Amino acid sequence: MTESAANVSSPNASLRVDLDKKVEDFRAYEPAPERVHTFYRLNHAHQTRAFVQAKKQQYLGLDHRRMGIWPALEYLNTLVDDSDPDTELSQIDHCLQTAEAIRRDGHPDWFQLAGLVHDLGKVLCLWGEPQWAVVGDTFPTGCAYSPKIVLSEYLKDNPDNGDPRYQTRLGVYEENCGFDKVDLSWGHDEYMYHVARPYLPEPALYMLRYHSFYAAHREDEYAYLMDDRDREMFAWVKLFNQYDLYSKDHAKPDATALRPYYEALIEKYFPAQVRF
Ligand SMILES: [Fe+2]
Ligand SMILES: [Fe+2]
Repeated sequence: MTESAANVSSPNASLRVDLDKKVEDFRAYEPAPERVHTFYRLNHAHQTRAFVQAKKQQYLGLDHRRMGIWPALEYLNTLVDDSDPDTELSQIDHCLQTAEAIRRDGHPDWFQLAGLVHDLGKVLCLWGEPQWAVVGDTFPTGCAYSPKIVLSEYLKDNPDNGDPRYQTRLGVYEENCGFDKVDLSWGHDEYMYHVARPYLPEPALYMLRYHSFYAAHREDEYAYLMDDRDREMFAWVKLFNQYDLYSKDHAKPDATALRPYYEALIEKYFPAQVRF
């Protein structure tokens, strides 16, 4: 834990961004581009509990590659996220926009750094994982699906939907067991959480791990699986989401000019080589 994590019990600032489009025009899934529907049809059909557990087994040993954080961002930069209706910007642009919006509002450096690295787990796509197994909103497997999950109608095609063990309110979980025990659909959030776990303070780790869990942080679903720590930390996840989402409206950041500032931040928290 870093020194600045001492005063992280609750976020105390709000978002100040100037938007060129209305808040309700973000995450407009109906109508969404056909590519977004195609994406969620695949994601919802294939993200079973068994699939999630197999991917954790495959990747969470972090023995895939060693990279510095900035080179990893550059490596990621070739990817365009099919699940995102709001941006055609490159990944590094989006990461820098998010970090810069957090910085403009005067938040601590570890919060800015969380903004910078929050999507870095999308490198999974560059290792042959299909986008439906990396990006998009996440949702719990092993228990009943909330109708508030994005494009939830496509979950009818998930094999777990026909398994009675997984379709009760609690499914395989216990009341208030904590999200740490819940197998969310697999993707870049869980992966990056594990990559960053030794290095960033707890609120930053919550942001990384749950930023795509809109059913929880936006719709307040699945509260019965949260423990007290989750409830406290989700204030940070909700605050982070404002920056992840609404900074997408801003102009393309100047990566060359910003690089020295963020390299120094990276060096403060991460080693030169990080296990992925
Ligand atoms: Fe993300
Ligand atoms: Fe993002």
